Amino acid sequence: MVRNIIIWPDPVLKQIAKPVDRVDDAIRRLLDDMAETMYAADGVGLAAPQVGVLQQVIVIDASPRQEGQKLLHLVNPEIIRTEGTRVYTEGCLSIPGEAEDVERADKVWVRALGRDGKPFELECGELLATAVQHEIDHLQGTVFVDHLSSLKREVIRRRMKKLKAEQAEERADEVKHASKHESAL
Ligand code: NI
Repeated sequence: MVRNIIIWPDPVLKQIAKPVDRVDDAIRRLLDDMAETMYAADGVGLAAPQVGVLQQVIVIDASPRQEGQKLLHLVNPEIIRTEGTRVYTEGCLSIPGEAEDVERADKVWVRALGRDGKPFELECGELLATAVQHEIDHLQGTVFVDHLSSLKREVIRRRMKKLKAEQAEERADEVKHASKHESAL
């Protein structure tokens, strides 16, 4: 099931996600919904807080932009080592239409639980390294615009508030049209 993606700024996106106690069917359903939501929005990654769930759950698929990649499920992910730095132009499904350069580690090693609840470690480079760091940021209440200057962030905040107001207006219009038969004179 495709879930609704929360648009920044929103207090939920500033909350810290809790670790998952046990990877059970409910978590696997969340992982499936998140993957479906990410693909429907043509994204590279999605973190559970973006769909309003404050748990440490991430999905990433860096294919076809990076060779040899596939869908990854990461529960309770943790970066255990980093190497170098690199600038990458990032976007975010919670901040649609925006893209800015962010400096992050060039390579990261991550430890997480998989869909089966078993721990695994993964060496991440290129886009995958950026995606892992971006999504783990989401679990800590941080979005990529928090890495920008306050001036840039405020410009983007204004655009997002306008977008949210437009979306709210569209929804109100839909409700009005749906009930038109009752109010038509
Ligand atoms: Ni994001």
